[in-house]
Amino acid sequence: MRIAVLTGAGISAESGIRTFRATDGLWEEHRIEDVATPEGFRRDPILVHRFYNMRRADVARALPNEAHLALARLARHHDVTLITQNVDDLHERGGSGDVIHMHGSLAGATCAACGHRWQAPLAMSPVDPCPDCGKPEARPDIVWFGEIPYHMERIWAAVEGAELFAAIGTSGQVYPAAGLAQHARRRGVRTIELNLDRSAVSRDFDEHRIGPATRVVPEWVTQLCP
Ligand code: OAD
Repeated sequence: MRIAVLTGAGISAESGIRTFRATDGLWEEHRIEDVATPEGFRRDPILVHRFYNMRRADVARALPNEAHLALARLARHHDVTLITQNVDDLHERGGSGDVIHMHGSLAGATCAACGHRWQAPLAMSPVDPCPDCGKPEARPDIVWFGEIPYHMERIWAAVEGAELFAAIGTSGQVYPAAGLAQHARRRGVRTIELNLDRSAVSRDFDEHRIGPATRVVPEWVTQLCP
């Protein structure tokens, strides 16, 4: 079966990675406009690098959980396109290949001046020179608010071409990711939501499995991979 899967911060929560919108989430302590916009980066690159350096350190300490592992198993039995909003590498370390990181990745650095991309060191700083143009404008290769997510053509095509669309651990509050379920459904693709609670776009799903990802995702995968 062709399955398109969209994941969000909830799938990594039980690996110890904080989500964004929980009461103890990252957006309670940090302002989006300060750390997740190009304007914020221009205003205070030290603050922004400090924020993402902490995220990189958190991810380096974390391990993939049963939900990440289950999705790798799903791909061994079905034609899976794995789309994630997450900037961690827990899907890859859980055994998934070809993960589409629509919001970029903590593993990447890019030059705000020339667009060159390279592998990010564990700690980045505003004076890091771009290895290509030499300007000190290194930034995390993360898609910020006001920027266009990566790989959108491939993502729309995978969702339209799927027989099943699953969203896992995402609050459905950030577009265009939050619009994928509606897009799928309008094209006759069956939709399922696996989440700790109902998301903001819950109505766009035919089926809901409510619970922690480490329980509901392996159960769902086992049903699809007898
Ligand atoms: P959110 O923090 O908005 O939502 C996380 C979702 O995961 C919520 O619906 C939770 O109920 C659910 N959740 C929490 N723990 C869970 C668990 N153990 N098992 C299953 N579900 C769980 O995170 P995202 O939806 O990923 O973008 O946020 C989308 C984007 O907003 C992020 O990619 C990020 C953020 O701003 C950028 O920074 C560009």
